[in-house]
Amino acid sequence: MALADFLANLDALAAEAQAQFTAATDSAALEVARVAYLGAKAGKLRLAQKGLGKVDSGDKPAAGKRFNEVKTLLEAEFESAQERLTSGKSAVGEAFDVTLPGRRRRIGHLHPITQTIRSMKEIMGRLGFTAVEGPEIEDEWHNFEALNIPLVHPARDPLDNFYLESAQKLVAEATSPLLLRSQTSTVQIRVMEATPPPVRIISLGRVYRPDTADATHYPMFHQIEGLLVDRGVTMADLKSVLRLFCQSYFGGDDEVHIRFRPSFFPFTEPSVEVDMNWQGGWMEMGGAGMVDPNVLRAVGYDPEEVTGFAFGLGVERVCMRQHGITDIRALYQNDVRFLEQF
Ligand code: PHE
Repeated sequence: MALADFLANLDALAAEAQAQFTAATDSAALEVARVAYLGAKAGKLRLAQKGLGKVDSGDKPAAGKRFNEVKTLLEAEFESAQERLTSGKSAVGEAFDVTLPGRRRRIGHLHPITQTIRSMKEIMGRLGFTAVEGPEIEDEWHNFEALNIPLVHPARDPLDNFYLESAQKLVAEATSPLLLRSQTSTVQIRVMEATPPPVRIISLGRVYRPDTADATHYPMFHQIEGLLVDRGVTMADLKSVLRLFCQSYFGGDDEVHIRFRPSFFPFTEPSVEVDMNWQGGWMEMGGAGMVDPNVLRAVGYDPEEVTGFAFGLGVERVCMRQHGITDIRALYQNDVRFLEQF
């Protein structure tokens, strides 16, 4: 065979193969083209290679060189066609289909309890209450004694509380046993010890009780504590503040009513359970009352000069009612499918 014929045949084959690789719109079509031109047994390039043997012997080196160039070229063309198909670029060179919807990035959000805490702080802030923090590891004085809970009170039973013997060894200045606080009322004491009246604070945080977990109990939960001490403070002020708070948090267009039921806490007198009207019934929010004169005296206030109210509400309870959550444990299982709904 003359060299010119061999080369013409080779060039035609290369042009054809290139056209087919470029035209392939999916992997299946590309594979058909690959087998047709680059197939090891009966591909057209393989057949052309056989023709090499028939080229006049003096022309063989030139024919072989050209054959190798075309083979390398077509293999590269095939690879780039393959890349184009897997990367989604079309033959006409568009980078991507701009009409496809984008991939939405997963953005987290605040835990529902954190959301509730933030909006409670915001509402109470508008009512003039400053948010303060207190420690979760407390001494017996702040958790019990100063709150008028004497040694003989059942709440003092060490079996009923999380005492921390090892922590006590680490805190050199700890003079009384340490435990995880069972209520945020401890912060009332800490604030009054540090500040002369008037005081108007809230404190939000975790408290710990050795409760068995069920739909409404968990050994750790959150409370919002409120304390206002000033001249001439009455139960009416307590009720107004709680009503305004609930109205802002839940109310919307509905009018909120607050109901007091007689109760007992060692550090308030009188003491009440606080309910709020909710979907035709009453929803229990927590405890409250007028600060017991013994407590005022314990922190060096004069009960003849000032009076005060205090309240402690369950943050989970408020959050659960707001969202219709029926099991408190769901808040702490960190199941994103649950939490992302709120
Ligand atoms: N500390 C009480 C409790 O945890 C609630 C409370 C707070 C009651 C303030 C009265 C005043 O149950």
